[in-house]
Amino acid sequence: MSLKIGVMGCGVVADYGHLPALARTPGLEVHALFDPDPVRRAAAGERFGVPLATGDPDAFFAGPRGEGLDAVLVASPAPAHAENVLACAAHGVPVLCEKPLAVDDAQGHAMVQAMAAAGASLHVAFCYRFSPVAQEIKHLVAQGAIGNVAALRLIYNWDCHGRYHQRDPGQGVSPYRDGRMREGGPMVDCGTHQIDLAAWWLGQRVVAWHGHGAWTDRDADYPGPGHIWAHLTHAAESGTPPAHTAVEMSYGYGHTARDADSSFKYEIIGTDGVIVYDRNPGRFELRNAAGTTGLGFHQEKDFDAMHRAWARLLTTGDRGDLATAQEALTATQIALAVTRQAAAGRGAAGSTGSG
Ligand SMILES: NC(=O)c1ccc[n+]([C@@H]2O[C@H](COP(=O)([O-])OP(=O)(O)OC[C@H]3O[C@@H](n4cnc5c(N)ncnc54)[C@H](O)[C@@H]3O)[C@@H](O)[C@H]2O)c1
Repeated sequence: MSLKIGVMGCGVVADYGHLPALARTPGLEVHALFDPDPVRRAAAGERFGVPLATGDPDAFFAGPRGEGLDAVLVASPAPAHAENVLACAAHGVPVLCEKPLAVDDAQGHAMVQAMAAAGASLHVAFCYRFSPVAQEIKHLVAQGAIGNVAALRLIYNWDCHGRYHQRDPGQGVSPYRDGRMREGGPMVDCGTHQIDLAAWWLGQRVVAWHGHGAWTDRDADYPGPGHIWAHLTHAAESGTPPAHTAVEMSYGYGHTARDADSSFKYEIIGTDGVIVYDRNPGRFELRNAAGTTGLGFHQEKDFDAMHRAWARLLTTGDRGDLATAQEALTATQIALAVTRQAAAGRGAAGSTGSG
């Protein structure tokens, strides 16, 4: 008997990531969809053969036959996560929520507390953790294949649905891109994945951070930068200096270019070698004293493996590599703080160095 799953938010990531993966996950079956947009929920319901697609929260939580839901995936935009998760808490239903968990710290804490009080699990859909790439990096780091990790460079520069992605190309900012920029921009929307990965790979929490940004948009004056860098310092392990992570994220990378491009890289730099993942040339390799070892190229996200892990959690209580709400809240808090620092430093020349 499969668990009855509800999905709140039937947009881009539900359509290409969650709903196809849920349909392939043994033990889970999507029974109900909730979305205030009637066109989107109807399209998703039809495409994935879901018996109930509604904009009425009571009908959603009741399920198609009034038997309720066993768990809910939240894939609405970040500002709606709190409302959705609090509704799940009121029904005592476990949640897997898209990142970023919340748009501010107070909201995030309220969500965590409400779910804990309801006795229902809350995890966050950090689907990058489940890619064979991220899994292999974690394994190699733990094995000591590159010695002590000293530095990480995690880069994702893209246009986030720039001007020429729209139906009417060349006509300004797409609502999708505009929404993501207003919700906090690239570090909050996407960089939470990278901040989480760095701490998870090393098993070393982040203890200090700093952000700098550059404003790449001409069409709108967003409060946060379109291109942003975070410098993270990890907790030092006994006897080794602390590792440092640089996260570079851009939603302004060629966003007005007709032929947009992107760049996605991981570099994990250790005392005895380097692990490199570079999406565009399809390169994933380990270089150390043994030479260069090809690691087999994969995409950096894996929704199927994540949903298999969620099914295991819901049936056995074993969370495996699923991110806890607290881990996700920490990543979100750092992303928000780094973005605030970058915004505060807008236009400043800097206080150190010369030239
Ligand atoms: N893990 C990933 O790789 C990944 C990729 C893309 C997006 N995301 C995240 O997934 C979430 C959704 O992103 P998207 O790209 O699908 O956005 P989207 O705008 O395409 O879709 C969001 C959907 O939610 C609906 N919605 C709006 N208000 C709602 C509410 N109150 N309750 C329920 N549904 C509501 C909208 O009508 C829309 O259909 C965001 O948090 C985003 O950061 C994650």
